Amino acid sequence: MRVAITGANGMLGAELLARLAGRHEVLALGLGEPPPPTQGTQWREADLGDGRSAEQAILDFRAEAVLHAGAVTDVDGCERDVDLAWRVNVGGTEQVARACRALGARLVAVSTDYVFDGEAGPYAEDDVPNPRGAYARTKRCGEEAALLLAPDCAVGRVAVLYSGRPGAKPTFATQIVEKLQRGEPLKIFSDQIVSPTLASNAADMLLELLLEHDYRGVLHTTGATVIGRIPFTEQLARRFGLSGEIIPVKTAEVKLPAPRPLRGGLKVERAAALLRHRPLLLDEALDLFHAEWMSRAGR
Ligand SMILES: NC(=O)c1ccc[n+]([C@@H]2O[C@H](COP(=O)([O-])OP(=O)(O)OC[C@H]3O[C@@H](n4cnc5c(N)ncnc54)[C@H](OP(=O)(O)O)[C@@H]3O)[C@@H](O)[C@H]2O)c1
Repeated sequence: MRVAITGANGMLGAELLARLAGRHEVLALGLGEPPPPTQGTQWREADLGDGRSAEQAILDFRAEAVLHAGAVTDVDGCERDVDLAWRVNVGGTEQVARACRALGARLVAVSTDYVFDGEAGPYAEDDVPNPRGAYARTKRCGEEAALLLAPDCAVGRVAVLYSGRPGAKPTFATQIVEKLQRGEPLKIFSDQIVSPTLASNAADMLLELLLEHDYRGVLHTTGATVIGRIPFTEQLARRFGLSGEIIPVKTAEVKLPAPRPLRGGLKVERAAALLRHRPLLLDEALDLFHAEWMSRAGR
């Protein structure tokens, strides 16, 4: 099958490419540095924010399925440059969805738990979003663009992604491990409840959703454990045989440009019932994360 991936040089994109390599004809789309070459994959630079080049690339490739993982993901950066956030997260999704409609291709667009305000999580797919902040609002509008414009579309919401894959960008989880290894104290938000999601688990679920199902609408494709950031940190530290000082911090004490959902987290019963690749419990995901981490060169 001809499968296009946007955001192919991102954290989730790397997991998606690794799973598709050698099994499908793949178009990897992104900006900047191409990902390491994989079998059967062609790279094309295409800007999700220019109103046309990603759409044209998908059309030229005659994609049969598209996994749209590209986005401006810097939550506070989006607050500082709302115009860019809109052009990429809404306009880019619009480009991808239009191409899918023209080709009759299936689309899975990746979204976020941030579409909810975090007043009363964890949330199910049918709960009404109330996004706060530029990142959250543009991702929510992107969901609607995808669902409205592409007839065969599912939106897969993920949250607090982390990966131990070599080259993966720093995340909450990797920073915890690195700081504990250096013996540094950890300042952790004590009032945020989240659904940590191992990127490889999300990639498995999203690709299965894209290639093996005709499910349309929103599906929560996060880890199965909803947990506060401090207990998450403690469980992660235990799995790595590390310990250190945790300094609890309230979100309101830190001046962040973008608001953060507090009582967040996503319910995953629907994905667990639908998919072969089920949302992993945190202890299962941490075992895999530890294995990814240990297989990095030099560890
Ligand atoms: N990370 C999380 O915790 C998290 C949580 C919830 C939802 N999500 C969603 O999951 C998806 C994947 O996230 P991720 O963590 O893998 O993010 P990531 O590593 O930042 O990947 C996003 C990719 O999009 C690319 N991109 C940004 N602007 C672009 C543009 N104008 N044109 C083309 N490509 C562009 C980025 O390229 P550059 O690196 O070159 O900028 C990057 O490769 C996103 O839709 C994100 O909103 C992530």
